[in-house]
Amino acid sequence: MKALKVNKARLWDSLMEMAKIGATDKGGCCRLALTDLDKQGRDLYIRWAEEAGCTVKIDQVGNIMATRPGEDMSLPPVGTGSHLDTQPTGGKFDGVFGVLSGLEVVRSLNDHGIKTRHPIEISVWTNEEGSRFAPAMMGSGVVSGRFTLQEILDKVDVEGKRLGDELERIGYAGETPVTGRQYHAFFETHIEQGPYLEAEGKTIGVVTGGQGQRWYDVELTGQESHAGTTPMHLRTDALTCSAELILAVQSIAQQHKPGCGTVGFMQVGPNSRNTIPGKVTLSVDLRHPDDAALSDMDAQLQETVARLTQETGVKIELKPIWYYAPIPFAPQCIEAVRTAAAALGYSHMDIIAGAGHDACYVSDFAPTSMVFTPCLNGISHNEIESTTAEECEAGCSVLLNAMLQMAEV
Ligand code: GLV
Ligand code: MN
Ligand code: MN
Ligand code: MN
Repeated sequence: MKALKVNKARLWDSLMEMAKIGATDKGGCCRLALTDLDKQGRDLYIRWAEEAGCTVKIDQVGNIMATRPGEDMSLPPVGTGSHLDTQPTGGKFDGVFGVLSGLEVVRSLNDHGIKTRHPIEISVWTNEEGSRFAPAMMGSGVVSGRFTLQEILDKVDVEGKRLGDELERIGYAGETPVTGRQYHAFFETHIEQGPYLEAEGKTIGVVTGGQGQRWYDVELTGQESHAGTTPMHLRTDALTCSAELILAVQSIAQQHKPGCGTVGFMQVGPNSRNTIPGKVTLSVDLRHPDDAALSDMDAQLQETVARLTQETGVKIELKPIWYYAPIPFAPQCIEAVRTAAAALGYSHMDIIAGAGHDACYVSDFAPTSMVFTPCLNGISHNEIESTTAEECEAGCSVLLNAMLQMAEV
């Protein structure tokens, strides 16, 4: 069959329409998981999916599954999807592109009157970002069995709000069981969120796997005391100790190329300009495509914590809260993406996902790959995140043809 293209204008219009929900002044989006804005985004998406002829179900962790029937409903669906939640200062495309390109695949199949043997299913996974509730990729992680449903429902945000209660509050605590999900194959489209496709001048990234991650919560306890009367040698300052820890995280990552290390969240107590800080809580995010290197980064972080405790007298509690090893995607799905890109005449290259994606957890129970598209200057998790209608059309058209290969026309 000749390679098909999706409707570029319709895909772009839907992206721009969704971006109005939680729009920020700088042109980005703030639609944190399980807030009223997340509910608005979910409601809009469900309306569109139903208008496109899909049947919609919600599972116990709030994942939304929209199904376009196949000719043989006894067969497992060919799946796609991503997330609608964003970072606090997120862009218009991270996650949303993967959801709306799934919808555009269904709309395009409808336009062409194409029936597939396997059903097609588009998933919106709950709390991919891990920003409001840590860790990330919760909805797909529960379905894959990496997390139990109960442990996820019991997670709390910084205000102490429980995830399960927030799910109920926005009306997305569904009844479909999180167990027993199957896919014949799964593909997720996503902007690359990094600089490589742009630097190489390629239109499509054929994603061969995802790097591993280790997340930690760290609590540093020193002693609060007066900023003017406590001599420098008598202080136990939790913030200066944190500064050393943050620089150590940077240096550990630099010593493990191409690993990454980030402290992105910090709270200082009592946060008063003339009191020496007695309490700091912060996050550490370590990533590497090689599991042995990631373990080595973990070991160095632990050594650093032991050394700083000794040197400064600050008590440091390092709590690992999340780990997954690097994920290799399925050869047949990688090949389907490559073949689709070639058939459409798009330049392409193999690439490893640096970010976490729901596809990483879906690959626990289904053959999976991803389609990446470039984003301007490689910037993401930023309101200025940008891409073009042409790039979205290309990624979505590759998705359509890769899904068609697997869903058998
Ligand atoms: C979430 O988007 C992550 O990759 O950290
Ligand atoms: Mn994402
Ligand atoms: Mn993200
Ligand atoms: Mn992500």
